Amino acid sequence: MVIPKTMKGLVLHEDNSIKFEAALPVPEVTFGSAIIRVLATPGNPNLVRMLRSEAGSHAFTQPRPLTPGGYFIGRIVAVGPDATVLSEGQLVLVEHFVRARDDTTVQILWSMHDGNTPATKKLHLAWRNGSYAEYVRAPFENTYALDEKRLCSPVSEGGLGYSFNDLTHFIAQCVPYGGFRSVNLQAGETVVISPATGLFSGAAISVAVAIGANVIAVSRSKDGLAKVKSSFPSIKTVQFTGDNEADTASIIAASGTHAPDVFLDLSPPAATGNDGVTACMMSVRPYGRIVLMGGRGDSNIPMPWPVLLYRNLTIKGGFMYEREDVQQVIRLLEGGQVKLGKENGYEISGTFSLEEWDKCADASLEHIGFGKIVVLNP
Ligand SMILES: NC(=O)c1ccc[n+]([C@@H]2O[C@H](COP(=O)([O-])OP(=O)(O)OC[C@H]3O[C@@H](n4cnc5c(N)ncnc54)[C@H](OP(=O)(O)O)[C@@H]3O)[C@@H](O)[C@H]2O)c1
Repeated sequence: MVIPKTMKGLVLHEDNSIKFEAALPVPEVTFGSAIIRVLATPGNPNLVRMLRSEAGSHAFTQPRPLTPGGYFIGRIVAVGPDATVLSEGQLVLVEHFVRARDDTTVQILWSMHDGNTPATKKLHLAWRNGSYAEYVRAPFENTYALDEKRLCSPVSEGGLGYSFNDLTHFIAQCVPYGGFRSVNLQAGETVVISPATGLFSGAAISVAVAIGANVIAVSRSKDGLAKVKSSFPSIKTVQFTGDNEADTASIIAASGTHAPDVFLDLSPPAATGNDGVTACMMSVRPYGRIVLMGGRGDSNIPMPWPVLLYRNLTIKGGFMYEREDVQQVIRLLEGGQVKLGKENGYEISGTFSLEEWDKCADASLEHIGFGKIVVLNP
């Protein structure tokens, strides 16, 4: 494949401005990496909030200049000499949870967070340039071949009819799947998911249903709950009232004969201090499991110590996913158990070119919530 020497891309500068560049150098392939033509990548609202220093958002700490942009759908144009299954021409998903090869506990979120240690910051320097460009050099470990025929050919030909843009909804499914697998959620168990109306929490409902769990979606927004219920009719919904005891009772009542086995939290940073989460935690049965994945900033976990103790509860944090989780969600997607596309509630809320970054950033903040995504097509 002929690879040009220069490419279009966005560059993030020290003052947090993002500028379009028409002739950035195309990265060169190295051992352990692939060069990938970016086809579709989301305009990430959390990145925009960070760059605009919105209240409650995390700080952007990476040294700049760099090309921002996280996960994406692309096509491989070159692979390093040690590639064994990845090859030129493959449609791939690239996810942005990068782990050091010599110590996988050294972790960064590509283009979002360079961690808190000298080791994570060093790792980020090596992988500093992300997907808001025509080409990206990606680590093999983050690059997953997709069955393009199955996913993208028309339904009339046995495919699932997804566009490349539709597939950008995929990563949101991997995050809660990683959380569920980390607490061993089983088919037939009941899981409380809260909140339930966001990009990630809505996706949590999708994967929980796909793996055969019973879902109780708990959130503040009546309209948001109605929307997720229309996409996943089998779920139960409970709207927060602000009275934690009453909300716990409603969740247990919705659970039927058995109290919930698992609770997954995916609150945003803005929910810091909101104690509705307590109502969900208190609903979990003895020996149940709780996994906290939301980016809240609380300094204490709002749960009475004796309840935790006498119920033998497990509470754990959950950051991202394991590589096997991504592989398994790809199988659920290709198998048709996890469904994307407009008819399943996943819309593309706007598409933009690199030159239109400012409009893309505004649209990314405007279109948030379950099933909404704004896409850059470099
Ligand atoms: N651990 C990980 O690996 C990981 C990975 C990705 C994301 N995350 C975290 O997951 C969070 C959720 O992502 P998302 O895209 O689904 O978030 P989101 O769309 O920004 O928000 C999700 C939901 O949170 C509720 N909410 C908003 N403001 C709130 C407030 N002040 N108090 C209480 N609830 C509030 C809303 O639901 P209702 O109005 O219906 O209540 C909203 O729909 C992210 O912000 C990030 O922190 C974690």
